[in-house]
Amino acid sequence: MDTADQQESAALKLLEKKMQSIINPSPLQPVKHPLLDALQLTLSVKRDDLLHPEISGNKWRKLKYNLLEARRQQVDHIVSFGGAYSNHLHALAAAGFHFNFKTKAIIRGESSYAGNPTLKQCSAWGMELQFVTRQEYKKRADPAYQQSLQTLYSNALILPEGGSNQLALPGVMEAVREMLQQTDHSVDHIVTATGSGGTLAGIIAGVRQYQPKTRVTGIAVLKNGHYLNQEIASLLNETRSRQRQEWCLQTELHHGGYAKVPAKLLDFCEQFTVQTAIPVEPIYTGKMFFGLFQLIKQGYFKQGEHIVALHTGGLQGLKGLQEKHKRG
Ligand SMILES: Cc1ncc(COP(=O)(O)O)c(C=O)c1O
Repeated sequence: MDTADQQESAALKLLEKKMQSIINPSPLQPVKHPLLDALQLTLSVKRDDLLHPEISGNKWRKLKYNLLEARRQQVDHIVSFGGAYSNHLHALAAAGFHFNFKTKAIIRGESSYAGNPTLKQCSAWGMELQFVTRQEYKKRADPAYQQSLQTLYSNALILPEGGSNQLALPGVMEAVREMLQQTDHSVDHIVTATGSGGTLAGIIAGVRQYQPKTRVTGIAVLKNGHYLNQEIASLLNETRSRQRQEWCLQTELHHGGYAKVPAKLLDFCEQFTVQTAIPVEPIYTGKMFFGLFQLIKQGYFKQGEHIVALHTGGLQGLKGLQEKHKRG
């Protein structure tokens, strides 16, 4: 090993050590409900919201190997994209702060959003914010636009919206490995909220690696989510034909679309938290649990099955929601 290799390996070891020291193990919490008893189903929640107060849930899982890659490449910056209340940008900013990376966000919308609780906190952690029009934001995945960013930030790691790239998968696979260890491999079905598809792809990859008989269901939180089937398949490096048996994306449980929060969904979230002591927010995890109970009622799961729902965090978004409601 030459000196540069030794330095790289020392820097990676240091980062891994820091990660281990601040990220908590996430417990598996059983949920009791009369409906579950009636159908002889067992439900547990993998509490990834407890991984870290700021870098929580699937955001941590998806960032972990991207951060290690950024350190390996010794980049100056990590650049990514998101909406004004993005959980991903919030987690990336926190990770930049804790693990010593410069971060930059390209945000859809006007600069007046800079004062919202999510982005205020991102700035406080040192993230540089750049606001772009919705038109420009739409170009975020275009190869030419990506190339122009790479030229502008010649030594940067550019992460897609939601942090969903191939390096997101191994981190999510670790969550699957942990839940299997925590249950003595008795997981029949894993359920998660789906936005960009990276988390679902990581769970599918994890199941294939560690326990192929487990089925996986994603609950799309946005309208017209069919296109995500293709996104997930390409994250898994395959065409869509292989799926169906082992995984399924539910696209009709979105409550009207992304960030739509009808009163019945809000009521459900409140009740769920009171009954289980598990905090949820209505954009992702609340929608997932609502959908999960709908599927249970429809007989989607087989009698006797053990379902594990992944709590993907995102609770920081509640502050922004409260602010939006106050504004009316
Ligand atoms: C709290 C929360 N849960 C679930 C998701 C959906 O994850 P994915 O975009 O990987 O499908 C997101 C978005 O990243 C999220 O912020």
